[in-house]
Amino acid sequence: MSESPATTRTAMIEMIKVGKEFPPNVTALADISVSIASGEMFFLIGRSGAGKTTLLKLLCNMERPSNGLIEVAGMNIHQVTGNKLAKLRQKVGVAYQDFRLLTDRTVAENIAISMEVSYKKPQIIRARVRSLLAQLQLEDKHDMLTGDLSRGEQQRVALARAVANSPALILVDEPTGNLDATSTAQVMELLARCSNSGATIVIATHDEALYRHSSNRVMKLHNGKLDSLTRGDEL
Ligand SMILES: Nc1ncnc2c1ncn2[C@@H]1O[C@H](COP(=O)(O)OP(=O)(O)OP(=O)(O)O)[C@@H](O)[C@H]1O
Ligand SMILES: [Mg+2]
Repeated sequence: MSESPATTRTAMIEMIKVGKEFPPNVTALADISVSIASGEMFFLIGRSGAGKTTLLKLLCNMERPSNGLIEVAGMNIHQVTGNKLAKLRQKVGVAYQDFRLLTDRTVAENIAISMEVSYKKPQIIRARVRSLLAQLQLEDKHDMLTGDLSRGEQQRVALARAVANSPALILVDEPTGNLDATSTAQVMELLARCSNSGATIVIATHDEALYRHSSNRVMKLHNGKLDSLTRGDEL
C-alpha cells in the first residue's frame, strides 16, 4: 500500500489522489489513492453510483481523470501516445458492464478481434476461441450472432473477448450480473486461471460471494470516495 517509488516498479496500477468530475457538478470519484500489485486479484465494491465503472474507465483510458495521477505498468496512461499507447492498450483487456459486443458479428469473430491486433496466426486464434468457449460452456454458440444471444451469454462472450489475448491487466465490470450459480463459477474459474498465469485482475461487482471468503483485497467506494480497503475474508 506504500506509494514510495520503490514499490511503483512491482505495481501494475498506481493511483494517486485521483478524482473524476462530470459536468455540471457530479463528483464520480474523489481523492482515490491505491496501489495494485502485479498479479493481484482486486475487487471493487459499493452501491450503484459509487464510482466503480468510472474507476475502471479511468484505468483503461476511456475517461481522463480530472485530477491526480494514474500509472499502469509504470506508464502514466494519460501521457503516453502513439506506439507506446497502442502497446499499453494491448496489455489491457476490458469486459464492459454493457458488454459492447459487435452484435452483427458472430461469437467467434467478437472474441477473435482482440487477438487479431497482435498478429497471431489464424489457427492459434481459432484454437484459443474454441478453448474459451468450452471453458464457458458456449461451444454451440460459436457461429451465432452475438445480438441473438441471451444477456448471460453475451456477458460471457464479453469476458472471453477481454481475456483472449492474455492481457497483463484484465478489467471486468460486473461480470456475473446476469448469470446463474454454475455460470458464475465458470467465470470465476476462468479468471482464476488468468490470475494463475500472472494477470492482474480488477473486478467490480455487487456479488459478495465472489470475494467474501477470499484473501483478495476489496476496495469499497461510497459516493466516489474510498470507504474501506480490506481483505475479503475480513469483511
Ligand atoms: N458520463 C457521465 N456524465 C455524468 N455523470 C456520470 C457519467 N458517468 C458516470 N456518471 C455519474 O458518476 C457516478 C458514478 O457512476 P458509475 O457508473 O461509476 O457507478 P457504479 O459504481 O459503476 O454504479 P453501478 O453499480 O450502477 O454500475 C454516478 O453518480 C453517475 O451518475
Ligand atoms: Mg457500474
